[in-house]
Amino acid sequence: MGFPENFLWGGATAANQYEGGYLSGGKGLSTLDAITGGSKEHPRMITYKTKEGKIEQVTREQSLPEGATGYIDPNQYYPSHVATDFYHHYKEDIALFAEMGFKCFRLSISWARICPKGTKEVNEEGLQFYQDVFDECLKYGIEPVVTMNHFDIPMYLADEYDGWTNRKVIDYFLFFCETVFKRYKDKVKYWMTFNEINFLRSWTQIGIHSSESQSRYQAAHHLFVASAKAVELGHQINPDFQIGMMVAYIPSYPMTSNPEDVLAAMEFNREQEFYIDVQVKGYYPAHKLKQFEREDVTIVKEAGDDELIARGTVDYIGFSYYMSTASTANPENVKYVGGNQVPAVKNPYLTESEWGWAIDPLGLRISLASLYDRYNIPLFVVENGFGAVDQLTEDGKIIDDYRIDYFSKHIKCMKDAIELDGVDLIGYTPWGCIDIVSAGTGEMKKRYGFIYVDMDDEGNGTLDRKKKKSFDWYKNVIASNGEQL
Ligand code: BG6
Repeated sequence: MGFPENFLWGGATAANQYEGGYLSGGKGLSTLDAITGGSKEHPRMITYKTKEGKIEQVTREQSLPEGATGYIDPNQYYPSHVATDFYHHYKEDIALFAEMGFKCFRLSISWARICPKGTKEVNEEGLQFYQDVFDECLKYGIEPVVTMNHFDIPMYLADEYDGWTNRKVIDYFLFFCETVFKRYKDKVKYWMTFNEINFLRSWTQIGIHSSESQSRYQAAHHLFVASAKAVELGHQINPDFQIGMMVAYIPSYPMTSNPEDVLAAMEFNREQEFYIDVQVKGYYPAHKLKQFEREDVTIVKEAGDDELIARGTVDYIGFSYYMSTASTANPENVKYVGGNQVPAVKNPYLTESEWGWAIDPLGLRISLASLYDRYNIPLFVVENGFGAVDQLTEDGKIIDDYRIDYFSKHIKCMKDAIELDGVDLIGYTPWGCIDIVSAGTGEMKKRYGFIYVDMDDEGNGTLDRKKKKSFDWYKNVIASNGEQL
C-alpha cells in the first residue's frame, strides 16, 4: 500500500527561469532572453526589431511582424538573464536538494547553451556544464530528469527560420538531442521532449511569428514529428532510456448538469488530450481532423510522418497539475479567475491562490485516474505547486504553512489514486522546488520553493538561499515515503 518503494520524489525547474548566466560559457541567445518582467497587472513583453530597424514590443500572445528579430533593449529588465543563478550555485542547490532527500531532480537543458544558434555547432563548455550538474546529482544518488525543451528556442532559429513552422528545425532539434543523448547516456535515464506541448504557441516558446491556427498547428505537427524521432533515436542510443511527453493538464468540469455544459467540458478536455493522443496512441484523433477541415487548417506532412508518429510513442506521460477549471455553454453568465495560460472559470466550490489559480487537490486524483484509464501507461506528476508571496518574519524565517497545506492535500490525493484507483505513478516533482522566476508573469514574488532565494522583481538581491518551513516538512514526507503529511 502507499507509494511504491522506488517512487521518484524530487523537485522541478527550467533553465530559462532558474539558470541565469544567459551569455556565460558560450551560450547563445534564446527567445526567452528577450521577454521582459511583468506582473499580474502588466503582461510580459517581447522586445524586437522590425525589418525597418524600429524597436517595438508586443505581448506574448500577439503576433510579431514578418521579418522581426528578437532584440535585447538595454533599458529593459529581463529576468532570465540572471534568474536565480543556478549556473553559479548548482553545487549549493543540489546539496540542499540532497538534504531534503530528493531521489530525482527535474531540470531542462538550454538548447542555446549546447548549440548557441540552434544549428549544428556545439558549445563544449555548455555540454560540460550539464555534465558537472549531472555528476553532482549522481554523487548524492539523485536521478536527473531532463526536459529537452522548456518554453524557448535559440533566437537565431526564430529570427531566421520562423521557428517550428519550418521543417528544417526538426533536423536541428534532432542534432541537439543526439548530441545530448550520446554525451549523457550513462548519466540520465528519464527524459521528456517538450514541456507543456499543448501551450506552445508563441514566439518566445517556439519562435513562430504568427499566432494564427495554421502556423500553430503546423508547428505542432513538426513538434510531434521531432518528438517521435527523438524517442526512436533515444531508444537506439540507450534502450534503457525512459522518454516521456509533457502536457499541462487542467481538467475541466461541466459548470452544471446541462448537457451543453457537459459538451463544453468535453471539448475543453480533449483539446489538451489531443496532444497526449498523438504522442501516446500515435495518431491524430478524428475530432481534431474534423476541426482542421472546419477551420481550413492544412497540415503539410511528408511521406512517412504518420508512420513515424505511430512508432515514436512515449514511455510515460509527464504532466503539470496546478488547478482545474469549469466549462459552460453560456460564458456570459460566469466569472473568470486567473489561470495557467488559459482564462479559467470560477468554480464556486473552490478557492484560489493570489494569482487566481483554483486549488483543487481532488482534481489531481481525478486527473490521474482518468489519464491512467485512458492511456494505461506510467504517469509522472512533473509539476505541481503553490505560487505565493512569502514574507520574512522579523527573525528572518519563512513560515509557509499555506504551501505545506497545499502539498499535503495533493500528495494525499496522489496516494489515493495509487491505492484506490490503481494508477501507476512513478514520481512527483513539485514545481520551483527552489524559488525561480515565474514563467507567466516574470515575477520573483510569485514563489513556489522549499528554498527561498533573495532576489526581487527588479533583479535586486544577494541570491542567498534560505530554507523555508516547508523544507523540513518535505524532507519528512520523502523520508516517510509519503506517509507523514
Ligand atoms: C507551467 C510551466 O506552466 O507552470 C512552468 O511549465 C511555470 O514553466 C509553471 O513556471 C508555473 O507557472 P508560473 O506562471 O506561476 O511560473
